[in-house]
Amino acid sequence: MNFSLTQLHVPQRILISNSQTPKAFKMTRLKTVSLALSCAVALLVLSMNSANAFGQTQPPKLASVPPMGWNTWYAFGCHISADVVRAQVDQMVANGMKAAGYRYVNLDDCWQGSRDAQGVIHPNSHFPDVKALAAYVHSRGLLFGIYSSPGPTTCGGYEGSYGHEVQDARTYAGWGVDFLKYDWCSATSVYRPEQMEDAYLKMHQALVAAGRPMIYSLCQYGMLGVWRWGPQVGAELWRTTGDVSNKIDFQEYERMLFVGFGQAGLDRFAGPGRWNDLDMLQIGNSGLNLDEQKTQMSLWCLLAAPLIVSTDLTRLSSSELAILTNPEAIRVDQDPQGIEGQRVSQVGPLQVWAKPESGGSMAVGLFNSGESAMPVSVDFRQIGFFHAVEVRDLWARKDLGTFEKTFSTKVPRHGVALIEVKNYQSQ
Ligand code: GAL
Repeated sequence: MNFSLTQLHVPQRILISNSQTPKAFKMTRLKTVSLALSCAVALLVLSMNSANAFGQTQPPKLASVPPMGWNTWYAFGCHISADVVRAQVDQMVANGMKAAGYRYVNLDDCWQGSRDAQGVIHPNSHFPDVKALAAYVHSRGLLFGIYSSPGPTTCGGYEGSYGHEVQDARTYAGWGVDFLKYDWCSATSVYRPEQMEDAYLKMHQALVAAGRPMIYSLCQYGMLGVWRWGPQVGAELWRTTGDVSNKIDFQEYERMLFVGFGQAGLDRFAGPGRWNDLDMLQIGNSGLNLDEQKTQMSLWCLLAAPLIVSTDLTRLSSSELAILTNPEAIRVDQDPQGIEGQRVSQVGPLQVWAKPESGGSMAVGLFNSGESAMPVSVDFRQIGFFHAVEVRDLWARKDLGTFEKTFSTKVPRHGVALIEVKNYQSQ
């Protein structure tokens, strides 16, 4: 951790001098000042402790909130090119996604060509100049991501990084890459399971040595409890499951719920700089209808998941774009405390999940995976509220008023209600 004194937030009231201050308030003020000072000293000590062996302080954590962006895979598979990516970048800026917080533009599999005699990786003919592409992405105020594998080949059969980790990390740094997704794929053919951590650590060390900060995103489908060791191999995020889109039987909604609800119990492994990755948002893709898309967005936000959408942005409908860019849902996901939500209750197809937010409010999702509309309720005591609360509907983006004990609402088939609950404040 790296804190500086200038970043400390000193409440305004302790900076105001007031000779009329009543004694009790003065005492509180004194306590607040001394508390602020003790905090400052404690943070200073923490900051000194985070200095490395060379006396330099660590750079600020990457991904202090879940990364947001776009990825080529579900949108285009292997039919990608620099032109396709540029068009998506332009769209991301023009349609308001950039303003809503989407930052990363990530190439997935299939950009690779072959290695030259020195072993340096080159892109294939669809990407004549990756450095120029990254520069274009940067020029639009966005960040650039790339994909490889610790194995000899990627899942799509392209060149992997096995035996070339240091070289590839240098190449990526030279191109201006900001994010690496590292997908296990063929690594099974060269590493035993107990060597998996070392294989991932090897690339982390190569990235550090290359000297450019890059988010390190592990993809090995949740094997060997990756959430327990992901941070130790330098990762900011790790996929906890297989792919969210099941193109085999086209049961996209069921698959998405299986992945999302399957996160129960993993919340304690997530936090600022270390995120459970539930794979990409399918918003805009034909497998989910609008209620199902809202369900995915709500669940991913409650779970503090990375919000990387993978669809053709030039074909998004206005309703789909509104789902992707709802600032109130995004605020839940990006809450700086970084607490992943948990399941509160489950009765048949009805589930309630809640995520604590900074400032004491709670975001709550009421899910109905049944085949007809049904009322779904939350008992406020179950989420730590014992008096009257105020409720806001984060999809309708309006306050619903004051409630006591419970809140109940009719939720459509395969739908969700996403609300925010906070203690009632009398005016
Ligand atoms: C899979 C991975 C997908 C995508 C694909 C590319 O292993 O889970 O997200 O990256 O490989 O081949």
